[in-house]
Formats: sequence, C-alpha cells, structure tokens
Amino acid sequence: TSSVGFVGWRGMVGSVLMERMQDEGDFASLDPVFFSTSNAGGAAPSFAEGAPALQDAYDIEALKKLPIIVTAQGGDYTKQVHPQLRAAGWDGLWIDAASTLRMDDDSIIVLDPVNRQVIDEGLASGVKDFIGGNCTVSCMLMGLGGLFRNNLVEWGTSMTYQAASGGGARHMRELLTQFGTLNGAVAAELSDPASAILEIDRKVLAAQRGGVDATQFGVPLAGSLIPWIDADLGNGQSKEEWKAGVETNKILGTAAGAALEPVIMDGLCVRIGAMRSHSQALTLKLREDLSVAEIEKLIDADNEWAHVVPNEKQASMDQLTPVAASGTLDIPVGRIRKLEMGPEYISAFTVGDQLLWGAAEPLRRMLKIAVG
Ligand code: HSE
Repeated sequence: TSSVGFVGWRGMVGSVLMERMQDEGDFASLDPVFFSTSNAGGAAPSFAEGAPALQDAYDIEALKKLPIIVTAQGGDYTKQVHPQLRAAGWDGLWIDAASTLRMDDDSIIVLDPVNRQVIDEGLASGVKDFIGGNCTVSCMLMGLGGLFRNNLVEWGTSMTYQAASGGGARHMRELLTQFGTLNGAVAAELSDPASAILEIDRKVLAAQRGGVDATQFGVPLAGSLIPWIDADLGNGQSKEEWKAGVETNKILGTAAGAALEPVIMDGLCVRIGAMRSHSQALTLKLREDLSVAEIEKLIDADNEWAHVVPNEKQASMDQLTPVAASGTLDIPVGRIRKLEMGPEYISAFTVGDQLLWGAAEPLRRMLKIAVG
C-alpha cells in the first residue's frame, strides 16, 4: 500500500473527495496521512481507521516523507508550500485541485477519461505535478469529449451558467440567505392570491438593491445574475473565460501538426443562482459536416458518463438541468442541433456537478492511477 498525504480534506471539495473515496473503497489500498493547517495533533477522521494523528500541513519535513500528496487546501497553500517542498528536494507526486500550477510547463491537467494518454506519457517522462482542471472546462470536455478527441472541433464558444459552489461554501450559503430574504420581504403578499404582482416585484427589487447580504458575491445573485467570474484580465476577458481556451488545449495536448489540432475556445462566463452544477451553452464549428445522429453517437460512445439527452422539450426539462445532474457523475448533453449558420455549426447544452467531475473526481482517479 502507498502512503498518501491529504491536505484540505475537510473543505468543500476535500469533503466531496473523501466521500467519493469512501464510496469507491479507495482507502483500502492506501495508508493515508491527514494534515491540518489548524489542528495538528488532533484525531484523524473516523473513516480512515488506523491513520495517525493529524500532522501540521506546513511541516515540510513531515510532508516530505510522503511519496504522494493530494491537496484541496486552495491556491494560497499551494503557492506557499509547493515551492518549499520542491526546494527541499521532494520529488513525490503532487495532486492538486487549485489552479496555481495548472498552466506551468511541467504540470499536467488531469481528466483521465479525456487525456489518459497525456497523463501516462507525463508519468513516464517524470512529470510530478498533476493538477485538476477548471470545473467548467472539465465538465465540457467530459460531455463533448467525443467531438474534441476526434479532432472534429475547429472552434467553439462556451456561454456558461455557473453555480454558486464555484465561489465556495460561503457563497452557497449566501445565495440561500438571499433567497430567504427576498421571500421574507413579500411573504404576506405571496400568501394572498389577490395581492398585486407589481407591488411584490417592487418590494423584491427594493430588497435586492438595499436589503440582501451580498458579502461574498459583492452584488445580489438571488433573482439576478453576475456576468463576470474571477479576475479582470484587463483585455475585456475574465480569467474564467481565458481558462476555457488554454486549459482545453492543454488537457487535450493539442499542437499544430499533432494528432489533435489546437481548438479555439472562448465565450462569456456568468454566475447564476444554481447550487453546485455548472451549465454551458455551446456553439461549435465542426471541421466536418456530420449528421446529428453521428454527433450523438460520438458523444454517447466517448465515455461512460456523457450521455445524450434527446433534443425535445420534456427530456430537456427533466434531464438537462442542475437539479437533474447535481450529486451524480452523469454529464447530460442535449440541445444538439444544426444552427442556421451552416451545416458545420451546432449547438449543445451540457450540465455537470462542478464538485464531482468539476473538482474531486479527476483528482480521485489520478490518485488511483498514481498508486497503480
Ligand atoms: N472558477 C470556478 C467558478 C470554480 O468560480 O465557478 C472552480 O473551477
């Protein structure tokens, strides 16, 4: 069995990872060592029988003993600890949910159902840093892998509908608190079927503009949306939008003249009031004029989690929503049709749980690959 250090296992992504590892029985083949940034010496979690007491997550000597470290502690931790560890001569595998090292030349973005070959070649050539991708990019590639991996996409736009969980646990709570505040502002009117809807609307707007707690998001999200996610890069693009292009190509391992040609991906990223599943509306320019049936077949056949939802009203409403996808590893892909722009232009809509395929699952699977 391999010794594996876990950092940040108590946070939201870390907790989802721990749940998935328990569900899959992954701990049976590991000797886990749990680290803590605040509670060194405390008891190891009860699900890991026999694990030693919590160790200090900033103790480089303790970390150095592990051949594999998995962290969901966040970017600040990675920025501080990873360089110290490497400088101390540690050459173990670093498996990380944070974006800090994602675009480094000597890291690989892990999404093995899509890029197992890139991962295997990396391991063989001595790559040591394996980083989970941006949630939106990972969910898109899981859903549309059948097109991307067959070199069929020339360019695409991804217009996103991203859930509160992408901001963090506090953001999810704030969204629900905002919904509650709005409901409370008009509870009496709502219980009276004869009350005037425009009066209700005025009160809700007044609460949104003056009364809701928006500490995390900065502006109200409940009953509204936020058309900007992550940093402003100063060129009109948000950092989340920039990631779509660079991470898609890095995950796929595209290069001019290589088996997979570079893909141009860009779009707008928008926060909406969903809980934990990101959705995205895609426009894809294909390199070939494929029939919708062929496209659907490629998507369905690519991996066991992507599945096509018939482009019909009821099926889309039932199966192609954050409510339908959340808490599952399914990546439904629907609304596939040829657009009026021409036979090579298609639309698609896909949804994925951003804590599962968007964060924890690629790390869990990378760890399985690493321990063999
Ligand atoms: N940046 C993403 C979001 C989450 O804010 O939704 C992490 O990939």
